[in-house]
Amino acid sequence: MTNRILLSVGLLAAGIVGGVVIASTTALHVSPSFPYVSTTAHQFAFKPRTDDQIPKTPFGDMVRLGENIFRDPQTYAAKYVGNDLHCTNCHLQAGRLAGASPMWAAYTAYPAYRSKNGHVNSYQERLQGCFRYSMNGKVPPLGDPVLVALESYSYFLAKGLPVGEDAPGKGFPALAKPAEPPDYKRGGEVYARACASCHAADGQGQSSANKVAFPPLWGARSYNWGAGMTNVKSAAAFIRANMPLNLGGSLSEQEAWDVALYIDSQVRPQDPRFDGDVQSTRKKYQNTPMSMYGQTVNGAVLGDPAVTPPSGTVPATAN
Ligand code: HEC
Ligand code: HEC
Repeated sequence: MTNRILLSVGLLAAGIVGGVVIASTTALHVSPSFPYVSTTAHQFAFKPRTDDQIPKTPFGDMVRLGENIFRDPQTYAAKYVGNDLHCTNCHLQAGRLAGASPMWAAYTAYPAYRSKNGHVNSYQERLQGCFRYSMNGKVPPLGDPVLVALESYSYFLAKGLPVGEDAPGKGFPALAKPAEPPDYKRGGEVYARACASCHAADGQGQSSANKVAFPPLWGARSYNWGAGMTNVKSAAAFIRANMPLNLGGSLSEQEAWDVALYIDSQVRPQDPRFDGDVQSTRKKYQNTPMSMYGQTVNGAVLGDPAVTPPSGTVPATAN
């Protein structure tokens, strides 16, 4: 795609974003002609604080650094990042949007037990997992300014929420089980129709002037096989509530399941917990009926080192 076409797609997306911003300051759901089909997740009343409320103090500086990392970790946390994604690509509106796993709801939910690692995790430890898996990077040590900044930013957003209760809008709105088992072929059709214009037919996303305009959904520059988004259920829930961008709720539930399975049937960086054997790694860490890791798709075993980029590929120049 040429830069010119790419730019017009970008402007189109920006226009939609503008539409939502304007509409939401009035009342999103009163305009029947507005294309946005709101899911209940987006209607929760909690309003996280805005940038102009960040205090001009040393604490405020940390909050601002946290938001900068969240929006652009390649610049502000380069030595821990091994792909092209930003936190805000999945936690939309810089971690403020309900139903897109917002940081205010996350903050008040820790410390918490996680079955993923079998113990109670502090908030900083939860953040470490994001770097290891979603960012395909390296884990910042506890107490590292990168983690302190992200924690400060989340704390700032969460002001006014009760601690220890699941805030409405936390995570992604749950999806009912699909009527029919998710299907790769149907998912490919949804992808071509509703996703490829932005994320590209090959799933690698699109960049303009070295800036990622539309993030990669698979391939070496996307999240790895240990990431939460490789859970088809989580991906389906995220997609149904939030994609196509600003048209959340427009896919049917079945379409969301199908396209999530399609995305999670593609090549992506190795699970950093890989023990040298795909089936044994699947058994230890991915053993759910819907996980595609270790399954054969288009003649290749997903996770097979022969077709799988390595995990944790932080560039040597990032120090
Ligand atoms: C590829 C998408 C993606 C990217 C990029 C990503 N995350 Fe996440 N994140 C997820 C998913 C999926 C979950 C799990 C949501 C669930 O299952 O409830 C999650 C969960 C979290 C949670 C816990 C939320 C909760 O309610 O318990 C935090 C905190 C978090 N991410 C922070 C970050 C930070 C900080 C970054 C950037 C360094 C980041 N994430 C990058 C997809 C992503
Ligand atoms: C109008 C352009 C557009 C369309 C169409 C679109 N997306 Fe996205 N998508 C985006 C943008 C932009 C982001 C990052 C959002 C941000 O940073 O605020 C994103 C983020 C994502 C993410 C999380 C980040 C990542 O790289 O994994 C997933 C998953 C995703 N989209 C899936 C889909 C699916 C599935 C469809 C089709 C049903 C779709 N998108 C359609 C623009 C689009």
